[in-house]
Amino acid sequence: MTDNGLGLSEAIELIDQWLGARNRRQLNPAEKVLIAAAWENQKYDAAAEKAGYNAGYLKQAGQGLWRTLSAVIGKQVSKKTLKTVVENQKHELAQHRQPVEGFSESKLDAADSSDLFVVGRRPPKTENYFGYRPELAMLKESVLERQCVVVVGQAGVGKSCLASKLLESLKLSADNRFEKVIWQFMSGHANLDSLLEEIFRCLKLDPYDPSKDLSAQVTTLIEVLNKEKILIVLDGAEEVLKGTTKDNPYGEHENYHWFFKQIIERSYSSCLLITTREPFQDLAFAEVSGQSVRIMELNGLGQDAYPFLESQGLTDIDDGFRLLIHRYRSNPFILKLVAARIRNYFGGDVITFIQCDSILMSESLQQALAAQFRTGVWTDLEKQLMQILAHQDEASEGLPFSEVFKILKQEQSDLSMHDFIAAIDILCARSLLERNQNETGPLILSLQPVIRKYLLKDPSGVIQESLAA
Ligand SMILES: Nc1ncnc2c1ncn2[C@@H]1O[C@H](COP(=O)(O)OP(=O)(O)OP(=O)(O)O)[C@@H](O)[C@H]1O
Ligand SMILES: [Mg+2]
Repeated sequence: MTDNGLGLSEAIELIDQWLGARNRRQLNPAEKVLIAAAWENQKYDAAAEKAGYNAGYLKQAGQGLWRTLSAVIGKQVSKKTLKTVVENQKHELAQHRQPVEGFSESKLDAADSSDLFVVGRRPPKTENYFGYRPELAMLKESVLERQCVVVVGQAGVGKSCLASKLLESLKLSADNRFEKVIWQFMSGHANLDSLLEEIFRCLKLDPYDPSKDLSAQVTTLIEVLNKEKILIVLDGAEEVLKGTTKDNPYGEHENYHWFFKQIIERSYSSCLLITTREPFQDLAFAEVSGQSVRIMELNGLGQDAYPFLESQGLTDIDDGFRLLIHRYRSNPFILKLVAARIRNYFGGDVITFIQCDSILMSESLQQALAAQFRTGVWTDLEKQLMQILAHQDEASEGLPFSEVFKILKQEQSDLSMHDFIAAIDILCARSLLERNQNETGPLILSLQPVIRKYLLKDPSGVIQESLAA
């Protein structure tokens, strides 16, 4: 092997930049030790001892690193071949120091949101953003052509970040038609008057007056929306559904139903973008009946959770990432918490964490789930269904649809298939229940491990109430 003079630190820098350009996280300290060992033809044991690592761990981390580098560089990389591959490829590697062209994440990240045409609250920052490209493209297309778009998904799945990313994407886009964005966190606006006050203030209209005619004031707003082409983001709109009753899906906030209808039917050039953990049944119905509404479900990062986990300082060893991603359904917020726990308590060892079989239930996650269980109306049927699945054997992947129906029917002899399916639909729309079907087998109903664990602890009393019923 000829020595082309590429030093170790230069090689590490080159590999780091190559990984960054491919949207992968940069090398962690253990991986730098591995590259040094490969560069200096040192055995794993010696490198581990020198750097204070467990030799077994370093060897396994090496397998993950060589796999990642092989995929990223496009040549088979091992400890033995790394130096040759990098030296042979160094000119090509150096060309990739800049981010990839096209829809460049870092270009978007560089755009400061204060710089956007946003009034109201500040959208969340979206640094180190991963995945959701098809969803972002679909969201952009939807807000440009519809009057109302709803992004619905579990807490932490990335709804607010996606909406924020949309603003950056619109800003760079030639076909953007919005002149202004109003961003509102709905936590302070369960009441429509309070939201309208804020929107009127953002648009510098005459102050909204709750004692005056609502309809006339909303007409004024709609005239402005038709003139000015505004995107209004209502972030965390499940807040509005907190007082829901069986007969009234909006509870005491009925006028939101009316307000959304006005926007959908009368505002032609603006758009209402809603993010929510809870589905809005009336808006789902409006979409099905052909009105200018789109409902988008956000279901997790999928394959993009691999580079995301790498960015969180973990290394994929022995299929650990796949197991982790499956267990936490590629929810970025939960994976971030889990990654911190694995780093802080398991020395970065994903497999040991999985073998400990601890389903992470942090305070913030518990609060998010508690809020979700407190929102919306729970029918006895929905509670019983959740209860049956929560008490399944932990190792089981769920129960067949027909078996769940049979169990429920024993308790409730007049249960109809129609009501059973309606309960499944609503629980799935709330991201609380999962339907899985492979090509040949029956439809399987199951709970995500975190939901199951939460229900077994049952701090919200959902199951207890059901048992008492
Ligand atoms: N695509 C992504 N890439 C990287 N990190 C992400 C991504 N999406 C979300 N995250 C991370 O997950 C966290 C939660 O995301 P976000 O606040 O958008 O979730 P949410 O669905 O709006 O949750 P909630 O229902 O609680 O409001 C973010 O702070 C961010 O750290
Ligand atoms: Mg949010």
